[in-house]
Amino acid sequence: MTTPAVPMVKAEGVHKSFGHAHILKGIDLEVAAGEVFCLVGPSGSGKSTFLRCINHLEKISAGRLSVDGHLVGYRQKGDKLYELKEREVAAQRRDIGMVFQRFNLFPHMTAVENVMEAPVQVKGESKTAARERALKLLERVGLGNRTDNYPSQLSGGQQQRVAIARALAMEPKLMLFDEPTSALDPELVGEVLDVMRGLAEDGMTMVVVTHEMGFAREVGDSLVFMDDGVVVESGHPRDVLTDPQHERTKAFLSKVL
Ligand SMILES: Nc1ncnc2c1ncn2[C@@H]1O[C@H](COP(=O)(O)OP(=O)(O)O)[C@@H](O)[C@H]1O
Ligand SMILES: [Mg+2]
Repeated sequence: MTTPAVPMVKAEGVHKSFGHAHILKGIDLEVAAGEVFCLVGPSGSGKSTFLRCINHLEKISAGRLSVDGHLVGYRQKGDKLYELKEREVAAQRRDIGMVFQRFNLFPHMTAVENVMEAPVQVKGESKTAARERALKLLERVGLGNRTDNYPSQLSGGQQQRVAIARALAMEPKLMLFDEPTSALDPELVGEVLDVMRGLAEDGMTMVVVTHEMGFAREVGDSLVFMDDGVVVESGHPRDVLTDPQHERTKAFLSKVL
């Protein structure tokens, strides 16, 4: 007998409202461990909101959401849910790396200092150990020769790669990417996607919001098309992208492909 693997992310009927604005209207999905899960959809459909719920930067209004078998923000005892304390939420969040469209590096710190910061400040790692690992991570994202540069001395693509290294420094079990290449000049997109492709090959579980359909097709294991707060269609990226079943998916893809 094999026990079924626990999904890395499981959403069951997830709703999110901001005041009267009902943004997520019952999201059901599962992300398996080791999977590259692409989330696509028009602007305003709720993609960022959903990512932020996974990370508990937003609190869901209804439904259940778990990461690696643990409810996000809650503990269950019997059939009752208890909200986690801020410290426990922070501990949950530490296992999840997030990369945004805007890199948000600390401008007064060098690349290596940016990558070392959280392990030292949050995990209490020694500076020596954190620096050593940061240097390896910068090497891994192709920036072994830019470790002492400040963000202002780096291109957008290089800054985004530092941001990825910084997220990896916390040794996350899940990485969330929110349109990581949308703010980049076109010629810099490839270098960031290459780093993400490498992470995928190393087995990292990734949820990627992106308009890069080439990446989704080549690297993605699953693709979900979201519109207006619901999952319209999902499947293997190749299937959804080449043979979309729903009008809304077709309309969207005709604009981005
Ligand atoms: N903090 C917030 N307060 C009120 N409305 C919000 C908030 N965050 C997002 N929204 C609204 O939720 C909707 C979905 O936004 P978002 O998740 O950013 O969509 P996407 O990432 O797919 O473009 C938008 O209409 C946006 O204005
Ligand atoms: Mg967004």
